[in-house]
Amino acid sequence: MCGIVGYIGNQNATPVLIEGLSRLEYRGYDSAGIAVLGSRGTQVFRSVGRVRDLEASLPRRLAGKAGIGHTRWATHGPATEDNAHPQTSEDRRISVVHNGIIDNAATLRERLDARGVKFASETDTEVIAHLVARSEASTLEGAVLDVLSRIAGTYAIAVLDERHPDRLVVARHGSPLILGVGDREMFVASDLAALVRHTTSVVHLDDGELATVTASGFRTFSREEENTAKVPTSVDLDLEDVGLGGYRHYMRKEILEQPSSVERMLRGRLDERFGTARLDGLNLGPRELRWFRRVKILGCGSAHYVGQFGASMIEEVARIPADAEPASEFRYRNPIIEPDTLYVAVSQSGETADTAFAVQEVKRKGGQIVGLVNVVGSTIARECDGGIYLHAGPEVAVASTKALTHMGIGFALLALCLGRVRDLSIADGQRLIAGLRSIPDQIQQILADEPHIAEVAAGLAGAQSLFFIGRVRGFPVAREGAQKFKEISYRHAEAYQASELKHGPLALIDENLPTVAILPDDELTDRNLAAMQQIVARRGSLVVITHPGVTLDDPETPRVTVPKNERELDPILLTVPLQLLAYHAALTLGHDIDKPRNLAKSVTVE
Ligand code: AGP
Repeated sequence: MCGIVGYIGNQNATPVLIEGLSRLEYRGYDSAGIAVLGSRGTQVFRSVGRVRDLEASLPRRLAGKAGIGHTRWATHGPATEDNAHPQTSEDRRISVVHNGIIDNAATLRERLDARGVKFASETDTEVIAHLVARSEASTLEGAVLDVLSRIAGTYAIAVLDERHPDRLVVARHGSPLILGVGDREMFVASDLAALVRHTTSVVHLDDGELATVTASGFRTFSREEENTAKVPTSVDLDLEDVGLGGYRHYMRKEILEQPSSVERMLRGRLDERFGTARLDGLNLGPRELRWFRRVKILGCGSAHYVGQFGASMIEEVARIPADAEPASEFRYRNPIIEPDTLYVAVSQSGETADTAFAVQEVKRKGGQIVGLVNVVGSTIARECDGGIYLHAGPEVAVASTKALTHMGIGFALLALCLGRVRDLSIADGQRLIAGLRSIPDQIQQILADEPHIAEVAAGLAGAQSLFFIGRVRGFPVAREGAQKFKEISYRHAEAYQASELKHGPLALIDENLPTVAILPDDELTDRNLAAMQQIVARRGSLVVITHPGVTLDDPETPRVTVPKNERELDPILLTVPLQLLAYHAALTLGHDIDKPRNLAKSVTVE
């Protein structure tokens, strides 16, 4: 949601912080700020807008060997300079950057107010700065611990104190925080992307953990002040993975990466001989896999839509009842957790708060949950009992693309495992494996059609409102298509089951409302064609995403043809042109594709 960076060492902190913030900008980008501690004390600069606006506002000589920075996605108070982080104490001795939400901020604010504290912002974070400054503890660690015992909510924080210029104190509870270990320098970040330029040696803090970070190292400890001996691990990530690499937008870079990223994901995971998948990370043997009688998939937004086609894949392939539910709703309905249900959390970032809370709810009630997660070592990945890493590589654009394709493939692998311990024959398993193997080439064929898809997108960009329709396997594809389109084009895009049109939505069809129809070559093709006729009869226009060999009533209808795979796997490929459709519509409209308004990459607040 927001991004945190911190530095302490022998370099000037300012460029390190600014560079780190630019790499984190995708996590929140309505305002940014830094605090740098140098010979002139702490200097704080904040600005509304992008990191480049902040950089432009800095004095030429801003030097210090320690500092913290933040890029914000507003929650408490609008995006203003006063509300940007770092937030400071009245005397500016203490500076704090914070991701998350302090639930009891209003109460604490009232109490501080009653004691005469003058607040300078509307943020919940400011209370932390005042409380640290007013703590009677003799050390910065003591003061931070003091404050943590009084605040409720979620946070990752980094605190800088003029009285203790040799250290940063950081803490994590419900929002990610990572330490980067350098050579006589240390880094802090909410996301690996801000660290890779400097180090690949990292320490992931756990919830409830704090750290003192100095130029010569770090010490991690618990809220009970007990040391938690953490050993740095090495991450397999370099600058090229997180850079634009000559592309204009991350979104297009990530779409085009899919053939190679999918090939990488499948490497070593397909077992042709037995027609199954090798998923050691699940930590589930054949007996356990056989024991489950249901599958429940939990995720948010696009991850939920992929979860829906994952559920239909599992039902078709393994013949176990499966369904997907938005994780954001699940935990609030006091769900019944069944011991013979396999719960699956699906998330690109592994940090989505709603999904993480759903995982905790399942575990609290004794359920078994595995994760389909992209970011290695992320909160959800660590909380689950096992899982399948997606290996899509870093995804920076807010609109998720390659990670969703990888989720679809992850569900296919899971379906194979669940199917092969039940009634799925070796031959059928091998048929699906052959289908999976052809996906990289087939995606490449779709990508080769980009100029044509761009033309179709330009035709749709003028519409204020659009429908996306599909049936059964095609419906989650339509939902994801509408989601991608609305996210970055800001056009109203609504998905319906083609079968439901006549029950209401048809009333909206006229010549101004185009429909994107998902029309796979399957047992429902004729029924889908019938729904399309109803649209045309009401003067509605169509764009059709379909397979070769499907004959349309009007051959002039704009169509995008996607290579045919096995019917269970078709949704994965049908989604790819919709990514390009959304991208090119947004490009036509001149929008900020990688950083759409009002959104952030990972939603680490509820
Ligand atoms: C996708 O384009 C969206 N940005 C959003 O719906 C996203 O899929 C959702 O917030 C879940 O994120 P996650 O996969 O990181 O959990």
